[in-house]
Amino acid sequence: MKDYLEKIEETKNYIAAETKFKPEIGIILGTGLGNLAGEIKKEYELPYEDIPNFPVSTVESHSGKLIFGELSGKKIVAMQGRFHYYEGYTMKELTFPVRVMKALGIETLFISNAAGGLNEHYKTGDVMILRDHINLLPEHPLRGRNYDTLGPRFPDMLHTYDKKLVEKGLQIAKKNGISCHAGVYAAIQGPCLETPAEYNYLHVIGADAVGMSTVPEVIVARHMNMRVFAVSIITDMGYPMEAIQETSLEDVIRVAKTTEPKMTKIITELLGGL
Ligand code: HPA
Repeated sequence: MKDYLEKIEETKNYIAAETKFKPEIGIILGTGLGNLAGEIKKEYELPYEDIPNFPVSTVESHSGKLIFGELSGKKIVAMQGRFHYYEGYTMKELTFPVRVMKALGIETLFISNAAGGLNEHYKTGDVMILRDHINLLPEHPLRGRNYDTLGPRFPDMLHTYDKKLVEKGLQIAKKNGISCHAGVYAAIQGPCLETPAEYNYLHVIGADAVGMSTVPEVIVARHMNMRVFAVSIITDMGYPMEAIQETSLEDVIRVAKTTEPKMTKIITELLGGL
């Protein structure tokens, strides 16, 4: 059986043989947030199912492919369609694309997601830039053998979200009249949304938003010392109690889609200024 490092190498070599395009920045697009891909001046596309060792995405709202091209004058690769723990992947599987991005030479990772709001000053359709996270997922992507060539056994997590990018993101939002906060994201496994008691618990422990993704990819990126910027779209409210409404995947996707242009504005301006 191939070892983890050999798999990363094999996948990197496959991609490098498919396209000579050399991206500098990686982007992972979240639920209902695939339209940003439309802004990319595309050079090359690779469906996940063609890429050796890549997981294949199962959720209908995610069409799985890697898009290589230019955005705001920067060479990027975007993952359209991401993998979630609730789909049944292991943490190693769902973070594998981040390992490959780093192997391709990417040092900066942008991530988007849809999340439930837990801060009484937030509202549906707001944007939240992650300044920190609380990992409540039941499995850890770094559990098991550590490969020192990838990163340290015990990665420090003080500077997880790049402070300069958070500040710049907030400035861009302010300049463009976008309602945007910097907050703490709690990751839960899903696929259930939270009970009112669970939303309250997450608020009490210090989370401003809750979602089912992002943190595994962030941990793996930081393990390899990549610079990380992540942003949530608040698609529903979980706090205060009176603000909670029944929420379906369609509701989440609808709010994500209508709010996406705000997030796109922040990401494209931020990219342009890098
Ligand atoms: N909870 C968890 N994940 C989510 C939510 C939520 O309320 N909204 C969008 N993703």
